[in-house]
Amino acid sequence: MISNKMTGALNEQIVHELHSSNAYIALAGYFDSLGLKALARRFFIQSDEERDHAMKFVNYLMDVGQQVQVAAIPDTKSVFASVEEGVAAALEQEERVTAQINDLMALAHDEKDYATASFLQWFIDEQVEEIATVSELLQLVRLAGPDRVLMVEERLMRMGFEPVQKPTE
Ligand SMILES: [Fe+2]
Ligand SMILES: [Fe+2]
Repeated sequence: MISNKMTGALNEQIVHELHSSNAYIALAGYFDSLGLKALARRFFIQSDEERDHAMKFVNYLMDVGQQVQVAAIPDTKSVFASVEEGVAAALEQEERVTAQINDLMALAHDEKDYATASFLQWFIDEQVEEIATVSELLQLVRLAGPDRVLMVEERLMRMGFEPVQKPTE
């Protein structure tokens, strides 16, 4: 039903989404190390969403009877020079993924693979949303400046990104 080329490209996207998931765990860890618990929470949640994205590709490949293959996930950056640099890295990550999703959609159209194009439409819309929210966050970080990052924390907490209490054992 779908070509080997498309199967390969969808399997590659599983790796890209898992790479995003790992990158956001590392970024959340960096924010936590600075005591920025709401920013950490926001990126831990984003990491979970990226894993869900990877699983959407896994499930689609299974639905169309194609082999799931998960290649090695590249290293991610764990140390950043500033909060702004960290959030800017997240925006760059989302811009890369947007280009990848667009390339997948172009391939689906080339191959007249309308089932995969329909599946990919959700990701096209999701990337618009993710670019918007991470751009907004970067703008906020720049407005606050390095001395007032706690204002960013307050804003995120009002948006529902409450720091998680670690479970007591
Ligand atoms: Fe994603
Ligand atoms: Fe994303």
